[in-house]
Amino acid sequence: MARDNECEHSGDEAALREPLSQPSRRRFLQSAAAAATVGAAPHLRAQTQAPVAPAAGTAQTVPPRPVTLNVNGRSYALQLEPRVTLLDALREYAGLMGTKKGCDRGQCGACTVIANGRRINSCLTLAVMHEGETITTVEGLASNGALSPLQRAFIEHDAFQCGYCTPGQLCSATALLEEFRNGAASVVTADIRRRPTKLSDDEIRERMSGNICRCGAYANIVAAIRAAHNGSGQNASAADVDHDHHDHHDHA
Ligand code: FES
Ligand code: FES
Repeated sequence: MARDNECEHSGDEAALREPLSQPSRRRFLQSAAAAATVGAAPHLRAQTQAPVAPAAGTAQTVPPRPVTLNVNGRSYALQLEPRVTLLDALREYAGLMGTKKGCDRGQCGACTVIANGRRINSCLTLAVMHEGETITTVEGLASNGALSPLQRAFIEHDAFQCGYCTPGQLCSATALLEEFRNGAASVVTADIRRRPTKLSDDEIRERMSGNICRCGAYANIVAAIRAAHNGSGQNASAADVDHDHHDHHDHA
């Protein structure tokens, strides 16, 4: 009986009784389990701890205020706290779930939208800063029920797998094509004193470098953008490009 109890409850003691000169699989497993328990302990404690109430007089609440956003040609009258990001305003308040949240810290481009013709990471900017601007999300790229040439090219070239990054890729590429048409240079443009004339694959890759695709559909994304560019006649008119904007992304 005592032996049974030892097996159930005193694994560490049993391990200690084993000669150090004879490392065993059992000792190794016990050590690993102990390390995992120690590593998990703070997390478990954090989960069960009651939230700490703010000290009297230090609670800071900022009341929501009216914010009107113009998105895809429609006006959205929202009540937002000043700290709400444009991404959260679009998804959680305006109900436009097409724009995706990936990293929420400006690193993946999943949240890319077009604001006054400039592509921006909507997770890095506050909604209140965009009142009065013309905002285009993926839901606004089609017009009258017809996909834009770029959207069609994405389908024809199989430029997505899971599709999570695709809204951001489409908004980014839509603005990219406008930027190129308006003569914006990139860091791979050979001579930035001259208007770039050829949207090479290198140009596309560089200009799309802010948009990550975890599925690795890059080759097809580049092919789709190239095809949309060569096909010309894009109706990607959502982008009213800021001519001074030469970067591939504005992280304002
Ligand atoms: S969610 Fe990743 S850049 Fe905004
Ligand atoms: S298609 Fe899956 S992340 Fe790009």
